[in-house]
Amino acid sequence: MRFLLGLIFGIVLVPLVVLAYLTYGNVPVAVSDPPFPHEAQLVHMPLNARIQKEMVGTHMEPDQPTLTAGARIYTERCAFCHGLHNKPAAIGDNMYPDAPQLLEAHRNDPSVVGVSDDPVGETYWKVQNGIRLTGMPSFKTQLNDTELWQVSIFLANANKPMPPAALEILNRAPAPPADAPTHPPAPEPIAQQ
Ligand code: HEC
Repeated sequence: MRFLLGLIFGIVLVPLVVLAYLTYGNVPVAVSDPPFPHEAQLVHMPLNARIQKEMVGTHMEPDQPTLTAGARIYTERCAFCHGLHNKPAAIGDNMYPDAPQLLEAHRNDPSVVGVSDDPVGETYWKVQNGIRLTGMPSFKTQLNDTELWQVSIFLANANKPMPPAALEILNRAPAPPADAPTHPPAPEPIAQQ
């Protein structure tokens, strides 16, 4: 009997507590709010499991035509959020989760640039399918399969020297939207009489 009461109590009470929490106005919803406890682990666990299940490989080589085509796609479709080297994208920095700057070396390990330490098939999966609830779009309908691999192979090799044609595309690309320069100091208030 006590067990049954406890069960009913739990079935009613738990949703009520959850509802109260959701409607109380304290749930982190703004970009600058702190993360939920263990949010990153909770979100990445199912994503990684799915990618492990579906990840495929490619026979395409990281040769000059592939890297150059990848650089072009990156500057046209991705730099807006993921930035160029030394030109961070303010839009990606101000998202939650933020869009990582994929052409910058990692602070704790400068031999890694962006996702160059991830298997190329993992990056291909993410670009093809997008990542739900993060703002990372799916490019399935915007890029054909060759283009999806080109940009993925380009990112997988971002820590290696790029062919001159790819460098030229990257250097000439317009800088992604940046943060506003700090505002000029406010004018002196007019003295009141
Ligand atoms: C509208 C902004 C936006 C655009 C445009 C965009 N992305 Fe993303 N991307 C994101 C965000 C936000 C994340 C972070 C997702 C997360 O943390 O799970 C992300 C994550 C990724 C990741 C995973 C990074 C990691 O550390 O695992 C890869 C790879 C990636 N994007 C590649 C691309 C490529 C390639 C393009 C262009 C074809 C592109 N993205 C365009 C917003 C964007």
